[in-house]
Amino acid sequence: MASIGIFVGLVVVVTILSKSHADRNVYPSAGVLFVHVLEREYFKGEFPPYPKAGDSSNDPITFNTNLKGYPDRPGWLRYIQRTPHSDGVLYGSPTAEHVGKPTIIEITAYNKRTFETARHNLVINIMSTEEFPLPYQAEFFIKNMNVEEMLASEVLGDFLGAVKNVWQPERLNAINITSALDRGGRVPLPINDLKEGVYVMVGADVQFSSCLREVETPQNQLRCSQEMEPVISCDKKFRAQFHIDWCKISLVDITKVVPVRSNRPDPGIGVLPDIGEYNPPSESLKSRDYFADFLITLAVPSAVALVLFIILAYSMCCRREGVQKRNMQTPDIQLVHHSSIQKSTKELRSMSKNREISWPLSTLPVFHPVSGEVVPPIHPDNYETTSMPLMQTQTNLQNQIQIPQQQISGKWYS
Ligand SMILES: *[C@@H]1O[C@H](CO)[C@@H](O)[C@H](O)[C@H]1NC(C)=O
Repeated sequence: MASIGIFVGLVVVVTILSKSHADRNVYPSAGVLFVHVLEREYFKGEFPPYPKAGDSSNDPITFNTNLKGYPDRPGWLRYIQRTPHSDGVLYGSPTAEHVGKPTIIEITAYNKRTFETARHNLVINIMSTEEFPLPYQAEFFIKNMNVEEMLASEVLGDFLGAVKNVWQPERLNAINITSALDRGGRVPLPINDLKEGVYVMVGADVQFSSCLREVETPQNQLRCSQEMEPVISCDKKFRAQFHIDWCKISLVDITKVVPVRSNRPDPGIGVLPDIGEYNPPSESLKSRDYFADFLITLAVPSAVALVLFIILAYSMCCRREGVQKRNMQTPDIQLVHHSSIQKSTKELRSMSKNREISWPLSTLPVFHPVSGEVVPPIHPDNYETTSMPLMQTQTNLQNQIQIPQQQISGKWYS
């Protein structure tokens, strides 16, 4: 194993940065930023060499990291890899409650050229230390850095060196690093090489220096509220490499922090009471009695339908009041009128049945229905066929009335 601590000066404990070449055992301290680089170079040895010798460093490799036996990493450990052509970085700050059990992280490397994978385990043994956490904690917002750039050991070392220069503590260490994107920041436009920005929290053992407190002066507070840069005398110590947003610096003395009230306030209306753990129903199914359901869904509607059916049947069959009742209710004189009208109508109908009709010639049969022979139209006056009109009107045929009866049996027309 080769965990490399980065030391700025003699006493500044920075970050335990282990190279993944090493055996995968690392010993970070609780309360100190932990950084572990997943080097593509190292995993490349697991994959077949690139066909073209010169391109061997070009394999796109991505990593998947998870707590052994679980789908994701532990909550304190974060991971970033900007592109498949850059190294991945595991980072985070373990706290005292993580001390003890070794944390086994499974690291799976995917080679996106050959589609092969390689797996290594990283065992993180978190050590408890008396001296952490350091009581005075300052969080800087660095505008011109992305989180993975800040995680590089040299850059972080430079930053801690600059902080040490303006603060003069005995001990100083990085506690936490957070991308501004995780705090509601926005992805910058791809112009002017804009960076996302990163928050770096450092801890020290002495009071904040006057320089760090300069932002608290009324003038600087005013400038901050007007979105102008405050005037900080020690900004030039950082300016060459780090653009610090002094308005966003936060200085916390953890010895003076009032512990947050742990018991929750009374929930307002609409908030469900805490009913403890969720109890899933048992796996074995109980038999269920469906008789009541049967009654409600089938028997009751059928009974209602039956009652309705009986009522309807009774009123249709037994209580029908037909013609008799109507006649009884109608005055006699009306009935007499009615029947006389009916009588005369009947009479008219039978008379009209007997009336002799003149049949249009076109409706007469051309063939005899029994013998089948052609029946020539018979004209009483024996017209010349040539002088006959093609369409015969009924007036032409007024004398022809008797023809049908002469030609065919009478039942056809009766
Ligand atoms: C480090 O930062 C992350 C993200 O802001 C936060 O969730 C975590 O609690 C911090 N850890 C410590 C030890 O402050």
